[in-house]
Amino acid sequence: MVILDGKKVSNEILENLKKDFASLNKKVSLAVIWVGNDEASSIYIKSKLKKCEELGIEGKLYHLDENTKEEEVLALIDKLNHDDYIKGILLQSPLPKEIDEIKCFNFINPQKDVDGFSNVSVGNLALGRPTLISCTPKGIIRLLKYYNIPLEGKSVCLINRSNIVGKPLFNLLISENATVTMCHSKTQNLEFFTRNADIVISAVGKPNFIKGDMLKEGSIVIDVGISRVNGKVVGDVDYESVSPKALYLTPVPGGVGPMTVAMLLENLYEASKNQDKF
Ligand code: GUN
Repeated sequence: MVILDGKKVSNEILENLKKDFASLNKKVSLAVIWVGNDEASSIYIKSKLKKCEELGIEGKLYHLDENTKEEEVLALIDKLNHDDYIKGILLQSPLPKEIDEIKCFNFINPQKDVDGFSNVSVGNLALGRPTLISCTPKGIIRLLKYYNIPLEGKSVCLINRSNIVGKPLFNLLISENATVTMCHSKTQNLEFFTRNADIVISAVGKPNFIKGDMLKEGSIVIDVGISRVNGKVVGDVDYESVSPKALYLTPVPGGVGPMTVAMLLENLYEASKNQDKF
């Protein structure tokens, strides 16, 4: 079994990006908007801002309290849309439930939409047009390509249907000519689909959810889950039973997570270049 080392691959990508950003010869800022105090968000945001610093980019955190009104979030996005130094705007999800998240994402100028969550980015991706692409799905495809794992004609069982992971990943996989089955919490007989898949991608958020007996011999397993067990970060995969069955496996931590951050910075670089054209 081969570990798909997202940490190593992402470090290579980030080293190259550092040079790319330096060659732009201009100030690049990423605005991160965080509303409330979600614990997981605080971890993600910290790691995103740390990487910005390492790459010589300004990461500007706008931390708003949990009672912030939707209009205030929209007003901040509007201000950032018009700030020429801000090349990317990231609105951390989840937002407090009183705020219409999709409306806010869609208020971000698509040119600065480094998460690929605006209607324009989502639409372009669905149409197979060039666009800024949601970071976790983009990172998964990049990791598979780095290890020369073919997707064409392969059957992929994707367990997630969210706007952030499942839906964009579905579109990317079919663009790569994979045959994709999208499973979710209401899927009956999930094992039927996982056992028939060449590649299983699990983003469920339940520790030990994927067991070896759910997989066919020699399958490729991408673990997108993040849970905390006794203070330790774990994925969806039961390592004991899966590692003898799988040909390739992503670890948690050190698999998909670091790839997501690398893709965010790649999107920021693309966004910066595109905005410089005008
Ligand atoms: N919440 C969990 N993952 C993400 C992500 O990739 N981007 C944003 N904005 N929020 C998230």
